[in-house]
Amino acid sequence: MTRKGIILAGGTGSRLYPATIGISKQLLPIYDKPMIYYPLTTLMLAGIRDIAIITTPQDQAQFQSVLGDGSQWGCDFTYLVQPSPDGLAQAYMIAEAFLAGAPSAMILGDNMFFGHSLTEKLKAANADAVGGVVFGYQVQDPGQYGVVEIDNNKRVLSIEEKPANPRSNLAITGLYFLDGTAPTRAKRVTPSARGELEITDLLQHYADDGSLVVEQLGRGYAWLDTGTHSSLLDAGNFVRTLENRQGVQMGCPEEIAFNAGWINTVTLQEHLKKLGDNAYSQYLRELLN
Ligand code: DAU
Repeated sequence: MTRKGIILAGGTGSRLYPATIGISKQLLPIYDKPMIYYPLTTLMLAGIRDIAIITTPQDQAQFQSVLGDGSQWGCDFTYLVQPSPDGLAQAYMIAEAFLAGAPSAMILGDNMFFGHSLTEKLKAANADAVGGVVFGYQVQDPGQYGVVEIDNNKRVLSIEEKPANPRSNLAITGLYFLDGTAPTRAKRVTPSARGELEITDLLQHYADDGSLVVEQLGRGYAWLDTGTHSSLLDAGNFVRTLENRQGVQMGCPEEIAFNAGWINTVTLQEHLKKLGDNAYSQYLRELLN
C-alpha cells in the first residue's frame, strides 16, 4: 500500500503571539514562504502525495485558503480537525479512516529539516513497510524533547518524553514513519501526567515489538525549531543564508512537484498566473525556462 502523509498543524500559536492575532503559527512566514511549506516539502521529497492536514477547527479555513486541494503541486490534500490539542498520538485516530490501513509519515507542521542526502534517507524510510522509523538528532537540550537511548546496534533501550534527567542527547524529531498498525496502537495509549496522548508512548509500543528503527541525522543535517521568537528568527535567517548564497529555493513545493513530474509545464504556468510578481514567482519562471 502506498504510504500516506499527515501534517499535524493543530495547537495554537499562542505560545508565540496572543491568540487574538488569529493567524495559525504554521502559516507564519519563515523568510520567504509559510512555515508549513517546509514540512510539506519534506513529505513530498519522500515521494508522498496523498496528505491529511490536521488543524484546529477554527484554523481549518486558513489552511485551505493557503494550500488548496494540493492539485497545483500534484498532491491530494484532505483536511481533518483536532478539536483540542490532546497529544500527537491522537492524530493517528483522527486520521484512521483517511489512512485506511496504509502506512504513514507524520510530520509536525512546525518542524524543518534540511540536509544534502535527506531525500535518500526519506525515500529509504518510505520503503520500510513494517514497523516504524524515527529520526534521532543530537541536541544540547534533550530535556525539551522526546529522548531516545540506543545501543551500538541501534536497538532502542529507552524512550522518554521531556525527561528531567535525559539518558542520552538524542532527541526524536517530529517526523514519524509508522506502518498501518499505528491507529490501532494509538488507541492503546493512555493520557500522560500532562494529560496528553504522547507520541513517545506510541513509539514505545513499536519498540516493545523490536520494530522501531532510529535513523540518526548527523552533523550535515539541520533540524530547526520554531517554537520561540528567537528560534523562529534563526530559522528564517538560516533559509535566507542558504537561498541567497546558492540561488536555490528551500521548501519550494512547485519545484519538487515539477522535477518529480507530478505537474507539467501547463499546470505550472497556470499556477504562476496566481502568484503575482515577486522573487518566488520569478524563481519559478526561471525554472520553466
Ligand atoms: O519537535 C519534536 C518534538 O515534538 C518531539 O521530540 C516530542 O517527542 C514531541 O512530543 C513534540 O514535542 P513538543 O514539545 O514540540 O510538542 P508540542 O506540544 O509543542 O507540539 C508540537 C506541534 O504539534 C505544535 O506545533 C503544536 C502541534 N500539536 C501539538 C499537540 C500536543 C498539535 O497539532 N496537536 C496536539 O495535540
